[in-house]
Amino acid sequence: MEKEKPIGVFDSGIGGLTVVKRISSILPTENIVYFGDTARVPYGSKSNATVVDYSLQDAGFLMSKNVKVIVVACNTASSVALDELRRNFHVPVIGMIEPGASFALQNSATGKIGVIGTNTTINNHAYSKAIHRLNPDVEVFEKACPLFVPLAEEGWIDRKATYLIAEEYLSELKQAEIDTLVLGCTHYPILYKVIQEVMGPNVKLIDSGIAAASVVKSELERIGFCTNSYSNGLQDFYVSDIPQKFKEIAELFMGRELQYIKRIDPENLTMLKPEQK
Ligand code: DGL
Repeated sequence: MEKEKPIGVFDSGIGGLTVVKRISSILPTENIVYFGDTARVPYGSKSNATVVDYSLQDAGFLMSKNVKVIVVACNTASSVALDELRRNFHVPVIGMIEPGASFALQNSATGKIGVIGTNTTINNHAYSKAIHRLNPDVEVFEKACPLFVPLAEEGWIDRKATYLIAEEYLSELKQAEIDTLVLGCTHYPILYKVIQEVMGPNVKLIDSGIAAASVVKSELERIGFCTNSYSNGLQDFYVSDIPQKFKEIAELFMGRELQYIKRIDPENLTMLKPEQK
C-alpha cells in the first residue's frame, strides 16, 4: 500500500541528515530511507551535467527501495536537477529551493533577502530565481560560502577560524542590510550559531530543511499518502562510502547516535537507469 512506503531522502553526502532530522520531527511515524553519496561528495563544485547525472542515480537507488516520495535534501542537486528528476520519476519530488524561497519571503519585512550556498547553487541563482518568481519586487543578495562545508564536517562549529571566515564571507550581506538570510546548503544549519552571531540578532536565518519538511508533510496529506502507523518510524541509512570519522560527523548532523549504516557500491549506482514515466 502506498501509504506504508517509506519517504526517500538523498543528498551528496551526510549533510542531508539535517533534513532527515527535520522530517522525522514533524512526521515521526513515517519510515525514511536515506541515501548519501559520500563517495562522490561534494556536488557543490561539480558541473551541472554531473550533478544531474548523479542525482538521477541517487533517486534511482531510492526508487529501488520503493519510496513514495523523493526529497532532494541537497540544495545543489535541487538547484540543477529537479526538472530532470520530475521528468524521470513518477513519485512527487520535493527540493529545497522553493520551500526555502517562500519561507524567506514570509519572514522578510524589508524585502532584502540574503542567500548563501555552494558555488553551484549560487552560480545558478537558484534561490534568487525562485524568490523572484514569487515576488519580483524584493532584492536578493547571494554569496557562495564553500568553506562552510568542510568547517561543518570538521565539527568546527564555534572556533575562532570559523568566525573569521564567516565575517569575511558575510560582510557584503551585512552591508546590504538584509533582514533575512537563507541557509541554502545542507551543512549550514550546523554553523547556525556562528552565522547568527556574525549577522546579528535582527537577521532571521531560514533553514530550508525546516521549510522542505513542512512541504513534505502537506504534500503527503494532499495526496493521502500519510502512514496509518502510530509507532515511531524506522530509518534506513545508505551511503556510497564510509570515510574516516563518518560516525562522528553523521551524529553531529543528526544530533543523535546512528546505529545501522549500509554501504552501497557506487559501481551499482551507475548501473541504475532512471525509470521512465
Ligand atoms: N549537500 C550540498 C548542498 O546542500 C553541500 C555539500 C556538497 O557540495 O555536496 O548544497
